[in-house]
Amino acid sequence: MSARPLCARSLFRATPLPLPTSTPTTAKCARAAFPLLLSTPPPPPPTPLPLQPHRPSSSSSSTRWRTRQTSDPYTKSSKLSALKSRAAYKLLEIDARHRLFAPGQSVVDLGYAPGSWSQVARNRVGDGGRVVGIDVIPAMPPRGVSALQGDFLSEGVQGRVREFVREWRGGKGRGGEGSVLESGRGVEEVGEEAEEGDGEKRVSAAREADLLHGRVVDVVLSDMMMNTSGNPFRDHVGSIDLCMAALTFCHDCLRTGGHFLCKFYQGPEDKDLENRLKRLFEKVHRIKPDSSRKESRESYFVGLRRKADVSKEEALR
Ligand SMILES: C[S@@+](CC[C@H](N)C(=O)[O-])C[C@H]1O[C@@H](n2cnc3c(N)ncnc32)[C@H](O)[C@@H]1O
Repeated sequence: MSARPLCARSLFRATPLPLPTSTPTTAKCARAAFPLLLSTPPPPPPTPLPLQPHRPSSSSSSTRWRTRQTSDPYTKSSKLSALKSRAAYKLLEIDARHRLFAPGQSVVDLGYAPGSWSQVARNRVGDGGRVVGIDVIPAMPPRGVSALQGDFLSEGVQGRVREFVREWRGGKGRGGEGSVLESGRGVEEVGEEAEEGDGEKRVSAAREADLLHGRVVDVVLSDMMMNTSGNPFRDHVGSIDLCMAALTFCHDCLRTGGHFLCKFYQGPEDKDLENRLKRLFEKVHRIKPDSSRKESRESYFVGLRRKADVSKEEALR
């Protein structure tokens, strides 16, 4: 498969921000305002690495990591763009393909630190929206983003996050009553085949059910990943546990028509995870973004348009 990143125009066509006409320089970036930074194009295609000369076995993995980091075009570009990490390019690429966000939405970013996905989300939802990040490690959230610290595998922490987002019910912008209708996605599309009038009734029934059950979040992101152990199966199973916690949260808090993105390590249990997503979402895609390192076993599922009326037992079995 081609390693070519999406060109800048296709990556950023969802945003009204102007496209820079040339590759940014450090000086230009330092002058640029934050919203403009997210319109910075991704780096040039990472050219295939030339065969490395044989290194003596004393070369440590941290030296290899440093070498790889300093030569990685996505890392360089994220620094120039004031993005907190190169992970931003994965989300930008997936958002360009699937249009996850709309202005005014409410977003929960699980495993947000250091915060580049939250930066992208905050940029996309704008001042009328809200973003909350959750992470097990302490970190300073990006401007305009709220944060909660805790291990999302803990039921107590999940409960705190549920309570936090349910406070949004009557609040700011479109995160309140109007959010289901105004986001322009989801249940409206589900109702396509219905007679005129039925669609609207279904939308308002879904909205009422969402509000009743505290499903107020428009987009759930999970880039959670524990420190890898070097044992691919253990890392795979650990990542599936994190995805299951995120999917359970989607069942409880994602509104009808809302979207979900989660990272997982590929392995034998990912098919079961995909099937669970298919029970809760209208459409599910498995994605390996170009900006994800080829040698990494990480991959992503995108669940588009949460279905109405799926019981927890049915969704998670
Ligand atoms: C790859 S990083 C996320 C990068 C982030 N998306 C960004 O753009 O900056 C994975 C994060 O998941 C967090 N994490 C791992 N396990 C977690 C857990 N059980 N609960 C909460 N956060 C967790 C880690 O602390 C780490 O910050």
